[in-house]
Amino acid sequence: MDQNHPFGGSHCKKPRRDTSISDVDGPLWLPRNGCPVGALLCDIPRLQEVLKALAAEKPNLARPKAVKDYNGRKAVHLTIEGATLLCFGQAPEAINKLLREGSVEFLPGLRLGAQRCRGPARSAEKALASNSSCFAFVELFAGIGGFRWALEALGGQCVFASEIDVDCQDAYAANFGSEDLYGDITAVDAKVVPSHELLTAGFPCQPFTRRGERLGFEDARGELFFEVLRILHSCKPKAFLLENVWNMQFLDGGHWDADPQKCVFGEVYKKVISCLEDVGYEVQSKQINSDGWVPQKRERLYFVGFRRGLPLAKDFQWPEPPANGRSLEEVLESAEMAQCCELTEAQWRAVQKSSTWLSGGAPLRFAQLEGKARTLTSSYKASFACTAELVSDPQLERPRFFTRRECARLMGFPDKCLLGNEHSENRAYHQLGNAVCPPVIKAIAEAILHSLGILPMVHRKQ
Ligand SMILES: C[S@@+](CC[C@H](N)C(=O)[O-])C[C@H]1O[C@@H](n2cnc3c(N)ncnc32)[C@H](O)[C@@H]1O
Repeated sequence: MDQNHPFGGSHCKKPRRDTSISDVDGPLWLPRNGCPVGALLCDIPRLQEVLKALAAEKPNLARPKAVKDYNGRKAVHLTIEGATLLCFGQAPEAINKLLREGSVEFLPGLRLGAQRCRGPARSAEKALASNSSCFAFVELFAGIGGFRWALEALGGQCVFASEIDVDCQDAYAANFGSEDLYGDITAVDAKVVPSHELLTAGFPCQPFTRRGERLGFEDARGELFFEVLRILHSCKPKAFLLENVWNMQFLDGGHWDADPQKCVFGEVYKKVISCLEDVGYEVQSKQINSDGWVPQKRERLYFVGFRRGLPLAKDFQWPEPPANGRSLEEVLESAEMAQCCELTEAQWRAVQKSSTWLSGGAPLRFAQLEGKARTLTSSYKASFACTAELVSDPQLERPRFFTRRECARLMGFPDKCLLGNEHSENRAYHQLGNAVCPPVIKAIAEAILHSLGILPMVHRKQ
C-alpha cells in the first residue's frame, strides 16, 4: 500500500492525512485541521443541566459563550476535547444519560458560527420503516438535491445528506425538510451515516473544471473527493454514483481526442479510479451529454461503482438517451412571466461592448430556441456581459436572461421544485448551474438498481 495516501492509491502524490486505512475508525474521519467539532442540542429547560455536566469535566467540555439558538432549542458547542469524546462515544456519564433519554442530541460537525444546525440522520432501518421505500441512499455535497429528486422518484429514501452552503441548505430544506441534512462533511463522523444501498455525490468540481486553475488534488477543494472515499470505506454501500466535469478525465497529462480510442486519460482521473478501486469497488465511468433528457447541452462525467463481489453488478449498462427530447422553446415561460429578467439598459450596453458580441453578435449570444441551450454554469447571471446565453423576445425591448424556472427546466428539475428564497433569489441561478440533471441521474440510477436487483421491487410497487 502506498503509505503516502490514506487509501493506498498508487497515483496519489500528496499525503492528505498522517494516517492509513487501518486507522479508519479513528482519526481518519477528523476534519482536515484535525479538530473535531460538534454541539449538544437540548431544550431550554435542560440547558443548565447540560452545561453543568460539561463543566464538571476538567477542562470544561463546553466552549465559553457558545450557546446558540437553534430552531427553538439550544445548541451547546463543544471544545475539541468535548467533540472528540462525543464522536468516539466516550461522553461523560451524565451526558450519556441525557443522550439515552433522548432529551439531548449530539450534532457532530456543527460548527460555531454555522447559521444552520441540522439534526442527525435517522437510522436507515427507521427511515425505511417510516415509508415503504425500496432502497436507502445518501447524498454528499447535496447542493439543492439534484440526486434526491431523481432517486425519490425511483422509490428511494434519503437517509443522510451533507451540504455546507447555507443558501443551498435553505433551498434543500424547503423541498425535502432538514431532518437528514448535515453541514460540513469533513466534520461528520462516518459512524453517524446510516447504512444505505447507494451513495451519491457530485463532489466539488472547481479544482477540475476548464474554467478554473485546474489544480486537481493540489486544490483543497479537490481533496473533498477523499470524503467520498471515507464514507464509502466506512459504510460500504452496494453501489455509488458520482458526477463531475468531463474534462477531469484529461487533467494532468491527458488529452481529449474526437476518436474515443485516442483519448489519453490524465493522472487525476486515474487517481480517482484507483482510489475508488482501493476502497473495494469495481468502477466504470462515462461521459454523457444531458441533451437527450433535457433541452440543454451538458456533458458530464459519471462514475458508477459496485462493491466488489456483488454477482448482479455485472449486468450494469449505461442508459441510452431518449429520442426526440424537448427543445428549448418548449420550456420557456411566457413573456409576462419573464419580463422581470429583461436586461437593464446598463447590462445590455455591457453586452454590446463585450468581445463575444463584437465577434459573434446575436447568433453567438442569443439562444437558438428550436435547439438546445448551452451549458448552464454557476456564473450564468454573474457572467452576463461576456458569456450568458440570452433570450431575444420580440415582446420585450431588450434581451432577457432565462428565468430561474426556465433554468430549472433546462436542468430537468420538476416545476414543483421550490427555488431559492427571499434572501437568495439570485443564488438559485448559481445553485442550478452547479447541480446535476435529475433525469440523467434517474436513468443511470435505474440501471444501477436494475443490476442490483432492486428495481423490480420498485416496479412491483408502482
Ligand atoms: C457541484 S455542487 C453539487 C450540486 C448537487 N449535486 C446538486 O444537484 O445540487 C458541490 C456542492 O458541495 C458543497 N460543498 C463544498 N464543500 C462541502 C463540504 N465540506 N461539506 C458539504 N458540502 C460541501 C458546495 O456548497 C456545493 O453545493
